[in-house]
Amino acid sequence: MKSHKQPIKAVLIGAGQRGTEVYGAYAIKYPDQLKFVAVAEPNSQRRSKFAAIHHIPFKDQFESWEPLLTKSPLGQAALICTQDQQHTAPTIAALESGYDVLLEKPMATTPADCHLLVQTAEETGHQLHVCHVLRYTKHFQTMRDIVQSGKLGEVINISHRENVSWWHMAHSYVRGNWRKREETSPMILAKCCHDFDLFVWILGRQCKYLSSVGSLRHFRPENAPPGAPLRCLDGCPVSDTCQYYAPFIYIDLVPLWRNFAEGASGFQKHAVRSQLKAPKVIKSLNTILPILKEISDYKGWPRSVVTSDPTPERVRQALIDGPYGRCVYHCDNDVVDHQVVSMWFEGDISVTLTMHGHAHSETRTTRIEGTQATLISYFGLGGSWIETYEHRSGRKNHYNTSATNGTGHGGGDEQLMAAFIESIKQGNQTTARTTAKQALESHLMAFAADQARLETKIIFMENYRNESKFS
Ligand SMILES: NC(=O)c1ccc[n+]([C@@H]2O[C@H](COP(=O)([O-])OP(=O)(O)OC[C@H]3O[C@@H](n4cnc5c(N)ncnc54)[C@H](O)[C@@H]3O)[C@@H](O)[C@H]2O)c1
Repeated sequence: MKSHKQPIKAVLIGAGQRGTEVYGAYAIKYPDQLKFVAVAEPNSQRRSKFAAIHHIPFKDQFESWEPLLTKSPLGQAALICTQDQQHTAPTIAALESGYDVLLEKPMATTPADCHLLVQTAEETGHQLHVCHVLRYTKHFQTMRDIVQSGKLGEVINISHRENVSWWHMAHSYVRGNWRKREETSPMILAKCCHDFDLFVWILGRQCKYLSSVGSLRHFRPENAPPGAPLRCLDGCPVSDTCQYYAPFIYIDLVPLWRNFAEGASGFQKHAVRSQLKAPKVIKSLNTILPILKEISDYKGWPRSVVTSDPTPERVRQALIDGPYGRCVYHCDNDVVDHQVVSMWFEGDISVTLTMHGHAHSETRTTRIEGTQATLISYFGLGGSWIETYEHRSGRKNHYNTSATNGTGHGGGDEQLMAAFIESIKQGNQTTARTTAKQALESHLMAFAADQARLETKIIFMENYRNESKFS
């Protein structure tokens, strides 16, 4: 067994939102666990900012992953945080160079590449972890424990919803990085590879066949309000009433503060609510209380995606000339805004997944019908809970599954990192909750769901697992 008293040394490929704000932040918070020693990032501003924060010498800063991953390893771990279509090549290079790898989901954007990644990990003998963060949440771990304990009896049906908030949909899937299927991923892969993974993990069974329906229903030119220009700041006649008006989302940040208010507690909740009612008052008091400054000068997601170092002037300019200031009805998006997948699992279990981008707030809600009890659950920014209702006794059990560690993905981001680091220290992946091979199944289900929707057909997974090696 390998033992490391020092922090694990890691290289970062892609110092974007996830690389910097999640994994970079983890290394700052837990310096005894993780230390970044090199970075590859073509955007010079992001690269130098990350290098400065993590004290990375100039010689270990790279404009792209190739020169970094083709030399002898500079550490034990490589974190691949590039965009969806740029996962396969750096992951293979990192595994072949001798790194254990943490790879963002989706593993890759074709079934064949996902198979190839699993095969490369097996051939090189290095660890490949896929960021299925929800497996690491208290919420879904509790749900799995309940199902596996048999407290519900035999599971008959699961009805699960991924309710993407209307403004997150507009940000990521209409104006932003995941709007075009061919350039990134189908939305059912980008958003729901997590959910497919949960079904397989919670039930401990595989899907036999599935079908799917869905479309891009709303964010289309014919739904634009009369007279709406191509950009919000070009004199839009409905700027006072349109929920998608870009300054409402990115300058006033109203939807973000509403979601935060739902999740915050104590003084923080009070401060966020005050920001919604009287932002000028919060601004005028922000020199007295640092927490107020964090709110009035907020620079995190989604602002950090709109422009780096998001001062009010820079955000406004980015809305004038960048992609996030476009009218949501006049973008070049083509991914769906609603999709339903019907699945038939081993053991005659029916499962449905509803994904849509029109929810008032960001949640995942689940209902599991067992022969002896029903489980309902809510996983959201405002906290999470599970309730079970026993059929014979009528007893109700309540489980508070809100995150107690970190906030990202219900605490899953931090737990995933902790497990990754522990696996490297142990020298094997068995302490982690998922392997690349397990992650493969969820990705294949997502690709199959996309194909089933496009071709209006049922996909049999046993055939698909083999045939998809070449697609
Ligand atoms: N686990 C999750 O739940 C979760 C959540 C959100 C996003 N993601 C995934 O994480 C990944 C990154 O997302 P993001 O929002 O951070 O994207 P991002 O666009 O903010 O960051 C990607 C970075 O990669 C950089 N890059 C491009 N080419 C490169 C190269 N040749 N070498 C090195 N770096 C290069 C880009 O300049 C960019 O800074 C995506 O695949 C996304 O789908 C996962």
